[in-house]
Amino acid sequence: MGETAGPKKLWIKTYGCQMNVYDSERMAEAMGGEGYVVTDRADEADMVILNTCHIREKAAEKVYSDLGRLRPLKAARPDLKIGVAGCVAQAEGAEILRRMPLVDLVVGPQSYHRLPAMAKAAAAGEKTVDTDFPAEDKFDHLPDRPAPSRGPTAFLTVQEGCDKFCSFCVVPYTRGAEVSRPAAKVLDEARGLVARGVREITLLGQNVNAYHGAGEGGEWGLGRLVRALAGIEGLERIRYTTSHPNDMDDDLIAAHGEVAELMPYLHLPVQSGSDRILKAMNRKHTAEAYLRLVERIRAARPDVLLSSDFIVGFPGETEAEFDATLDLIRAVGFGAAFSFKYSARPGTPAAERPPVPAEIADDRLQRLQALVTEQQRAAQAAMVGRTVKVLFEKPGRMPGQMVGKSDYLHAVHVADPAAMPGRIAPVRITESGPNSLGGVLAG
Ligand code: 5AD
Ligand code: SF4
Repeated sequence: MGETAGPKKLWIKTYGCQMNVYDSERMAEAMGGEGYVVTDRADEADMVILNTCHIREKAAEKVYSDLGRLRPLKAARPDLKIGVAGCVAQAEGAEILRRMPLVDLVVGPQSYHRLPAMAKAAAAGEKTVDTDFPAEDKFDHLPDRPAPSRGPTAFLTVQEGCDKFCSFCVVPYTRGAEVSRPAAKVLDEARGLVARGVREITLLGQNVNAYHGAGEGGEWGLGRLVRALAGIEGLERIRYTTSHPNDMDDDLIAAHGEVAELMPYLHLPVQSGSDRILKAMNRKHTAEAYLRLVERIRAARPDVLLSSDFIVGFPGETEAEFDATLDLIRAVGFGAAFSFKYSARPGTPAAERPPVPAEIADDRLQRLQALVTEQQRAAQAAMVGRTVKVLFEKPGRMPGQMVGKSDYLHAVHVADPAAMPGRIAPVRITESGPNSLGGVLAG
């Protein structure tokens, strides 16, 4: 209440995807320039930012109810500034200020470079909304210094936005058209991260394999970027997410076989196994094309573990069409999968179509999840007895335990003081739990 001693404190709540985790770090960094330090306690914050996600239903309602829950805090600390960022901010805009007068600023993902100015306006009692898609490249406005990374892994945004317009998806509307960062900037940022001890970088983008950044000799695709990143001394692991099947070009597929640093795990959403539904989703590929693509990726890197996103109960989905999705899952064999019940997003073409009854969608979701859980367990169980490389990140839940990720992105626990954060070591896997593996150092 009143004057706080020391620097001002910023609490950011992050919803949704890894892009938002990254954006929250960039916002924290931008506000750091204004004298704010990050806190994990809302009750001591001078500024609260909800970095929201709009990908599925009820997101906006959840944000409104979370904002409602901030009322007592604002009542106790009238100087507290409240901001809404992310895709709900983009989609709802000034409506948020109308419904929630306690909010001071609303900032869309394309406008985070304006956050410090908006915070100053808020301090002067002025409310601001910025959900424009600026014509300039927003990357030019972000500090070139890398986001503060915690530990040996970091995210690095290389691409934003999406031009695909899948008929169920809000991303092209909330995040705008595809923009790629110039390769030299990505490489500089990666070098900076590695200089601070980062050993694994996950390249981020809403449609990351559509990357087409300016580079030496012309435009670079993601494969070329990955190869250049692999040349950075000390960068041991590279991943990327999320991809569209149609953007897996030959060079990127070849990179999976040729670049040792490119990890053998690929998140490649297919959404459905029915050609009619894929067409209605405007995915622009068939189930067969996806299966052939998987074959080519596995030919390049036989041990690659694949994961996918699935939507069940898309408008008009019949039982036979749902079965086609289960068939595709059986044919591929996924190491992990994220599955969602279709939810109508206002403004998207699919939202105009009659929905599948909720009980049917619920039932399909359960059946699909049972199948992918089975596959996930099988993929984990297949690791038992094998020796895999693990990058240790942090202490596990049990005393003395360290946890890290295998090349295949499995969480692995090891109880051994030699398993230091930042170390990559071979681990012999001895057990497979519901969500993680356990093992012992093997050298
Ligand atoms: N309904 C359900 N799931 C959706 N996704 C995106 N939009 C919707 C929607 N309207 C899922 C897709 C996407 C993942 C990030 O979220 O499967 O790949
Ligand atoms: Fe949305 Fe992904 Fe389709 Fe782009 S490719 S519209 S982000 S689901």
